[in-house]
Amino acid sequence: MLTSRLKDSDPDVFEAIEQEAEREREKLLLIASENYASRAVMEAQGSVFTNKYAEGYPGRRYYGGCEFADRIEGLAVERIKRLFGAEHVNVQPHSGTQANMAIYFAFLKPHDTILGMSLSHGGHLSHGAAANFSGIYYNTIAYGVSRETGQIDYDEVRRLAEEHRPRLILSGASAYPRTIDFEKFHAIAHSVGAYLVADIAHIAGLVAAGLHPSPVPYADFVTTTTHKTLRGPRGGLIMCKAEYAKAIDKMIFPGIQGGPLVHVIAAKAVAMKEALEPGFREYQGNVVKNAKKLASELKAKGYKLVSGGTDNHLVLIDLTNKGLTGKIAEVALDKAGITVNKNTIPFDPQPPTITSGIRLGTPCVTTRGMGEQEMALIGQYIDDALNARDDEDRLKAIRGKVKELTNRFPVY
Ligand SMILES: Cc1ncc(COP(=O)(O)O)c(C=O)c1O
Repeated sequence: MLTSRLKDSDPDVFEAIEQEAEREREKLLLIASENYASRAVMEAQGSVFTNKYAEGYPGRRYYGGCEFADRIEGLAVERIKRLFGAEHVNVQPHSGTQANMAIYFAFLKPHDTILGMSLSHGGHLSHGAAANFSGIYYNTIAYGVSRETGQIDYDEVRRLAEEHRPRLILSGASAYPRTIDFEKFHAIAHSVGAYLVADIAHIAGLVAAGLHPSPVPYADFVTTTTHKTLRGPRGGLIMCKAEYAKAIDKMIFPGIQGGPLVHVIAAKAVAMKEALEPGFREYQGNVVKNAKKLASELKAKGYKLVSGGTDNHLVLIDLTNKGLTGKIAEVALDKAGITVNKNTIPFDPQPPTITSGIRLGTPCVTTRGMGEQEMALIGQYIDDALNARDDEDRLKAIRGKVKELTNRFPVY
């Protein structure tokens, strides 16, 4: 690794990287939107392609010397097409948010109406949240989950679509533990003449592995990040029907971005090759199995799960019956070596800085090779830590057990 040179040239940055490596090694990372990219992915991302400007697209660049950048981008696009069966791919978005932004800017006018999932019910900022550009520039209507089931209320989506006639409907979420019915979303969008975007940032790995129904046949646009279940470098991408290809490409560059991050595109290409290998399907299957096991362990200990369980890689816990807030739980668990994020639950009485829930995901621990036996242990440690939240000694003892567990499953 380059860090050996960094040690001499910049000891401060070197030390921070070493500290982060230790944190990722020793703690149980249960952030549902994170993963451990492979060494091959990181090698590509740390490559000489970081030096290269390549504004434009393969064969149509504004700079000389792009022949190898063209090759890289071609490989990435071809692999993504194969993985998802997409007609057109733009692999240049720097992030998931910019992927969504390109679609809005290309197909909407300011103040047009968009219908997206409420942030507090599991949607993403870029789906129309008031503080985000999407909520500032567009008139946002939000749908949510049913109070009874904790699952998307498709009747409400239809009712809101018919009442507000949005130009664009967003499906996809950041904290939704259940299967999303993209076919239903398509029917609703079609009936009101709206574009349908499927943002599969969280579930892209499951979709690629065939473990979650694909939105590609139904949505006009499919966006994703590449760094969550898909296990690539940080970044985004857009898939769309061929008829939208030109407008999307033009909006990414020169519309909202300058030069592509060719080193990141190289790493995306590597991640897609990994995702096309048979082991990836097995990995994603284990991610889901582990999430189900963790959910059932916690349920058995009296934890309330939003929607009652999970179909995917994440579990959303409602802590109200335990007399805990998400903020208190996040801090206590971190002291025990377990990293989670506080998360609003649907109809949350607490503000987003406190919350009544935590979100747990299994992509990271599954990448380490942990299975259902370990999920039972993790469920126990979570319960122990929350019960011992005011007892520093007990939290430290749990942290010791967590370290023993993580030591048995090295990351790199
Ligand atoms: C559903 C969804 N869309 C988009 C994004 C945005 O990705 P980024 O952080 O790369 O902008 C996220 C990130 O958490 C997400 O969960």
